[in-house]
This record gives sequence, structure tokens and C-alpha cells, in this order.
Amino acid sequence: EPMKIDVLTLFPEMLDGVIQSSMLQRACSSGKVQIGVKDIRDFTQDKHRTVDDRPFGGGPGMVMKCEPLVAAIEATRSSEVRSRVIYMTPEGASFDQAKAETLSREEHLIFVSGHYEGIDERVREGWIDEELSIGDYVLTNGTIASAVVIDAVVRLLPGVLGNESSAEAESFSSGLLEGPQYTRPEVFQGMEVPEILKTGNHEAIREWRHQQALERTRLRRKDLLADK
Ligand code: ADE
Repeated sequence: EPMKIDVLTLFPEMLDGVIQSSMLQRACSSGKVQIGVKDIRDFTQDKHRTVDDRPFGGGPGMVMKCEPLVAAIEATRSSEVRSRVIYMTPEGASFDQAKAETLSREEHLIFVSGHYEGIDERVREGWIDEELSIGDYVLTNGTIASAVVIDAVVRLLPGVLGNESSAEAESFSSGLLEGPQYTRPEVFQGMEVPEILKTGNHEAIREWRHQQALERTRLRRKDLLADK
């Protein structure tokens, strides 16, 4: 059974290029995942297709209305499998590799992308299972944030990456940053590839790479070493 992913957004065209691009495109056409994109505006009932309104109590910005959002979520929820509804917002829990792994085991993900002033709190209380942030900055809407999470999740699905081991060997699955990588030529503008990588001594190479990874992590991301 392919994993199902749906994105509910006011800007469906923002996802066109992302879903048509290499890894996600292959994952879809090889049946590992089914991605659907729905325009929240299509779930309005009024002549003007209204999706937002002024906040009660006053203040700047607009708030996304309950009715179209809830109609979109309910039309997208599956009766066959468990659907997990995720609202993308800078107020959500920080998205990371561990969360990507957890989500990759779900059957159906529904991403709700609001514009950043937010959605009516009653939708969050009644229809959202989880809120995620991709970082401490503010995007104009959550659609790009959904795309980030989808990319990180889909590449973990069994059979999606050509080389099954490459997802495990890289940064964060070990809890460390990756060390340096080199490919041909051996000398580029006078800069040489480290000797050890050309010795064919796999044990020594593994140890060298581990030391490089530790050192890079210590220099750039001391926070990742806290529990090591
Ligand atoms: N929507 C706007 N900013 C966001 C962020 N940083 N993460 C997730 N969704 C968002």
C-alpha cells in the first residue's frame, strides 16, 4: 500500500514544481506514495469564495475561517486508514529527522497550510492532530513548509532512494554531521584528496571519517553532541 499524503493549501501551484521534481516524482510514479493537492478555496460555499475574515477583537491581518478548512479536512480524511492531520505553523513543535522517521511510518498524512496570521483556534482544537514548525522564522504561508516535511518523509520510505544505505549513512541519522566527501579528479587546482581515502584500507577510512564527523560536529553544532 502506498503512503497517502494530501496538502490543503490556498496556493496549490506552489507545489507543482516540487512534486514534479526528481525524487518525489519517482516516488509517486513507482507507487511508493500518492500525493494529492487540494485548494481550500474549492471548499467554500459563497459567491466570493471567502477563505478568511477579520479577527474578533480587532488587530492586523486576517484569520482563516473554520468552514472551508473543516470541509476540506473532512473531505480528505480517509475512512479506510488512519489519517494524521498536521498544521504547519511557526508555533508548532520543531520538525527534525526523528519526526521525519516517525511520520514515514504513518498511512495517511494531511498537511494544512494556513497563511501565517493563522487559522481559527477552533479548527486547531477539533481537527488538528499535530502542529509542526520547520524553523524559527516566518513564511508567508505553510505550503513551502509542507513541501519541506514531505520531501524529508518520502525519501525515507522503503525503496524510494536508489541506494538504501545512503539515507542511513548521512548527517543526523548518526546524530553527527557528515564529514568531507571527495570525487575525481585526485588533484583539483592544486588541492589534493586526503591520502587515506586512496589506501583502500576500509577500516582505517571508516575511523578517519568518524573522527572528521566528530570534529565537524564539535566545531559547527556543539548542541548535537550534548548527549554523546
Ligand atoms: N508557516 C509560516 N512559517 C512557518 C514555519 N516556520 N514553519 C512551519 N509553517 C510555517
